[in-house]
Amino acid sequence: MKAIIPAAGLGTRFLPSTKCTPKEMLPVLDKPVIQYVVEEALEPDGVDGAIIVTSPGKPELLSYFQPDRSLESLLRERGKAGYADAVAEAGDLPVDFRYQYEPRGLGHAIRSAADATAGESFLVLLGDYVVPKRSICTAMLEVSKAHGGASVVAVAPCAPEDVSRYGVVAGERAGSLPGFENVADEEPGAVWRISGLVEKPAPEDAPSNLYIVGRYLLSPLVMDLLADQEPGKGGEIQLTDAMARSLDRENMYAVVVDPLSGYDTGTPSGWMATNALMAAADERFAEDFWAAIDERGGLTRS
Ligand code: G1P
Repeated sequence: MKAIIPAAGLGTRFLPSTKCTPKEMLPVLDKPVIQYVVEEALEPDGVDGAIIVTSPGKPELLSYFQPDRSLESLLRERGKAGYADAVAEAGDLPVDFRYQYEPRGLGHAIRSAADATAGESFLVLLGDYVVPKRSICTAMLEVSKAHGGASVVAVAPCAPEDVSRYGVVAGERAGSLPGFENVADEEPGAVWRISGLVEKPAPEDAPSNLYIVGRYLLSPLVMDLLADQEPGKGGEIQLTDAMARSLDRENMYAVVVDPLSGYDTGTPSGWMATNALMAAADERFAEDFWAAIDERGGLTRS
């Protein structure tokens, strides 16, 4: 099974930094954001490659995932084996690329990788959300397996006024992940059968407050339906709309996840907070991170 990672956007919210550096290449601690997403995608058993959908204007993504043996040997000669290993690790990940030649929406980006999925189910991981524990895709695969290979999305509850930022699901409780039998309907581990999906509804039109967090396991039918999907919200070809059409012919499930299991790196402030929180939680960085802050009198909200 392949995992598709759309990464063709302009990175508008991070301009001017993203004028020359794709937003996916911005670092979180010592690695670019996209590497966390690729590693998360490759975590579950059965996923054997990641397909990054990018635009021709972002060659840095391709170079990053190429091996660089001369840099590796230079580092080894200089006694920097740890850095050499890190360079090798990035270059040896099973990553392939497809281009989205025009910015026509998420559904169009996913469809641009159709040939890579070989008619099988596939994962989609949106790159603005980093899940260091890599747990969500495995949970979705478990739910899918329990329901005959059905499509599954990860959802989380949001404040009613925030629904218009997301894809929102309608449905009914249909069970739980093993070990989560007693959780309430909107708590992590609850499983829903989806009866409808709507992209960025007005709060008064939202069928629930469960939003799609950006992790999908989709059937080949959804990929097929994307081929003739009409533009929807914002004039873009929406993945949500093709998923909604698939409901006429197939079941689809949602698994509730804790939104705090991931970090939002899609805005400058989200990205900054992600770096601070992950540095504080990582033993390789925590001590020096706090020392650098303490040196300036600590961090208090003014
Ligand atoms: C996309 C999807 C939306 C989903 C969201 C998660 O929207 O279209 O359904 O809820 O990602 O981040 P975007 O954020 O690209 O507008």
